[in-house]
Amino acid sequence: MAPSNPESRNHPESGTNHETTAPYGSGPSAAGAPSAGTPSAGAAGAAPSGRVRIHHLQQAKAKGARFAMLTAYEQYTAEIFDQAGIEVLLIGDSASNNVFGNESSLPVTVDELLPLCRAVARSAKRALIVADLPFGSYEVSAEQAVATGVRFLKEGLAQAVKIEGGAYYAPTVRAMVQAGIPVMAHIGFTPQSEHALGGYRVQGRGDDAQRLIDDAVALVDAGAFSVLMEMVPADTAAAVDAAIKVPTIGIGAGNATTGQVLVWQDMAGLRGGKMAKFVKQYANLRGILGDAARTYAEEVRSGTFPGPEHSF
Ligand code: KIV
Repeated sequence: MAPSNPESRNHPESGTNHETTAPYGSGPSAAGAPSAGTPSAGAAGAAPSGRVRIHHLQQAKAKGARFAMLTAYEQYTAEIFDQAGIEVLLIGDSASNNVFGNESSLPVTVDELLPLCRAVARSAKRALIVADLPFGSYEVSAEQAVATGVRFLKEGLAQAVKIEGGAYYAPTVRAMVQAGIPVMAHIGFTPQSEHALGGYRVQGRGDDAQRLIDDAVALVDAGAFSVLMEMVPADTAAAVDAAIKVPTIGIGAGNATTGQVLVWQDMAGLRGGKMAKFVKQYANLRGILGDAARTYAEEVRSGTFPGPEHSF
């Protein structure tokens, strides 16, 4: 039977007017991998030899260094990315459409994300672990946001959380920070507001740039330790970065931010289909896994696997 095309669910068609493709679409160490704690080439910007902490990201900005962030949703990728020197791992609500098979990030729940977060946190020895608060888990009130943030730090073993939204959420950020929950702010295109924003659209063009600067300043004043910008013109992102003292992280926001983030399945070429303009694919895992599965199936069907060397 012909397989359905699950990846198509991750790819809303590009629309008009700047709309683009949706970007979202501790076990044993791998042989040959550096041990946890080994500084890697990738750690040059921000990471110390031990655990990456918020102040290391701050130092990176102060020194003009850069750091890398990737999503991770389970044990092995967390371990691999951690050992590769990725400074920040994000348990993104993009798990919704990259793990759970949803069409967008909206349906994923706190109870679905918490076990993924725990798995990543247990597997990564160096990276800073940041968890997304999913849609509906922080918008109602500052109290709701604090309660959800506490769950991610306590049950998910996260070290910080990320919430989407602009200056309106400054009081929420303040309450969370006062409760001891470090908060990364996410502005620009915020996928949880996809319907309110009219689809996947670049934010902060032209006169709208000032809105993003105001958002960033308000969120940082409230205590956000970092500001992530998604699908923002490079010059706007540079202006936001210049307006605030904390590190910025970009995804589709040009090259002036302190850090960059990508969804790992996009970065490594596991997801098929059309990629957003800002995605660079560094591998073709989809091809490699497909080839491995086909070869395995052929060997099973032909009787060459298992051979004597795999038999007792
Ligand atoms: O959920 C997510 O993956 C994100 C990104 C910034 C990549 O929020």
